[in-house]
Amino acid sequence: MKKIVFSLLLFFVFIQCKKQTAAPTGLVTEKAMVVSAREEASKIGVEIMKKGGNAFDAMVATEMALVVAYPFAGNLGGGGFMVYRKADGDIGSIDYREKAPLSAHKDMYLDSLGNVVPGKSTLGATAVGVPGTVAGIIAVHEKFGSLPLAKIFEPVIALAEKGVMVTANQEKRLASQRDKFIEVNGDSTKFATEFKEGDIINYPALANTMRKIAKNGRDGFYKGETAQKLAAFVQENGGYITEEDLEKYEAVWRQPIVFKYKDLRIVSMSPPSSGGVTINQILKMMEPYNISEFGHNSVKTVQLFTEASRRAYADRNYYLGDPDFVDIPLDVLLSKGYLQERMANFSFDKATKSAEVERGNVEIVESMETTHYSIVDAEGNAVSVTTTLNGAYGSKLYSDELGFFLNNEMDDFSAKPGIPNMFGLIGAEANSIAAEKRMLSSMTPTIVEKDGKLWMVVGTPGGSTIITAVVQTILNTYEFDMSMQEAVNAPRFHHQWLPDTVIFEPEGFSTELKNEMKSKGYIINEDRTPIIGKVDAIRVLPDGTLEGGADKRGDDMAVGF
Ligand code: GLY
Repeated sequence: MKKIVFSLLLFFVFIQCKKQTAAPTGLVTEKAMVVSAREEASKIGVEIMKKGGNAFDAMVATEMALVVAYPFAGNLGGGGFMVYRKADGDIGSIDYREKAPLSAHKDMYLDSLGNVVPGKSTLGATAVGVPGTVAGIIAVHEKFGSLPLAKIFEPVIALAEKGVMVTANQEKRLASQRDKFIEVNGDSTKFATEFKEGDIINYPALANTMRKIAKNGRDGFYKGETAQKLAAFVQENGGYITEEDLEKYEAVWRQPIVFKYKDLRIVSMSPPSSGGVTINQILKMMEPYNISEFGHNSVKTVQLFTEASRRAYADRNYYLGDPDFVDIPLDVLLSKGYLQERMANFSFDKATKSAEVERGNVEIVESMETTHYSIVDAEGNAVSVTTTLNGAYGSKLYSDELGFFLNNEMDDFSAKPGIPNMFGLIGAEANSIAAEKRMLSSMTPTIVEKDGKLWMVVGTPGGSTIITAVVQTILNTYEFDMSMQEAVNAPRFHHQWLPDTVIFEPEGFSTELKNEMKSKGYIINEDRTPIIGKVDAIRVLPDGTLEGGADKRGDDMAVGF
């Protein structure tokens, strides 16, 4: 009998150990790592850490390098969120989301009949929110940076001058937007050129703008020559940003959302991002189930995930907005009793209908064009950052004089409750437009602890699919015993309450699985099978080394030492 008990114990220990030690398949390094959308940006972040900088210095460098190497989403003219965990366990987050300009008002995108004016919140200068990125990186540098700003900017400015090679993916992206670049900026703009794979694009104007930031910090962007030129440029093109808007912009340090999932402690972004709240709700609704037993992407797992997402997104879309403007009942939304009650009518036998799920009658989705990077330094400080221009190359408005694109983040507000925006979105009152308000986001930069230690840094672009992609990556590693790289590459699916459909990536889901889902009443969207997210993550292995997960869906790259 003793022998049997001992064998069972050994087996249990083996299973637990196996869970913790999925063999790495991504890049493994000893000390430090950056995973981002472009090799050039990951390399510059790592170079800064090799020169003695910490993860926060590397954040500034990587964020700026993405402006040069990944103008699709990397930005000076946009905004983002950063979640950190210092080596001593201290956690926090900063919100450098764009704001509505001072002249903004609820009906600014409506015509005299109260109809939404097509394109006004999406294309060109009228779509631009007050950029937050420079305020964000400077605030981070002031609080946690260790190297001088000039030293951090040095390799970035050199890259802007030397230029970046166009990849095959980038050629496609630029070609698909070229007509819009010309429509917005005229045919003498830099991006009117038909760039091909292998071409080098250099950015001397951007290098000049960055020199001013390197020298004068936030005043190098929000005051003086750059601010004057930027405000004049946006206004000449019919937009609303003034020098006062720029001068008044402040990034905000916020308490992150923190919760337990089994023996993980998850730290993620709080409103005005919906990311942390929504992953908290989804994971807590799934927690009572033995998901690892159901199997990865099995019908039961997909069903449970879909039903938890349905309920969480219904709440997200109704209740969440800028916490400086709206009261969000977080205590209730994240309480155990409330979430249990939300799942009370869930059954594995058949789909719940979204029309039967309370809350609200609204839908909010955001665009797919964002970028995420994850950093761990040699001391164990971790930084998780998601940043965006909103649409691909934002509003497409490009300042040839200053060398960067401007966001179209105003479209993340709801222009008119009940009326869809360019992504088919229907917004709620909590996310209506007001002067100086921040628009709701789905960005979900996240850090996960296990047994009190840093375990994972994770995030992704992908609009509303960001949230589900982050949760699936965590579950893939924790419940389904995958390496970081496998977890990032694994096929993903998505559901967000409305529309009441489940989207599967094109590869990796069998017809049998989809048919079984259909037989239970799920509507499978088979017309639209895009990639879902582009996750860049780092896992800390039991021996303290780091495994990168750079998503195979893009040009993403892990670099470290
Ligand atoms: N613009 C995408 C997001 O903030 O979620």
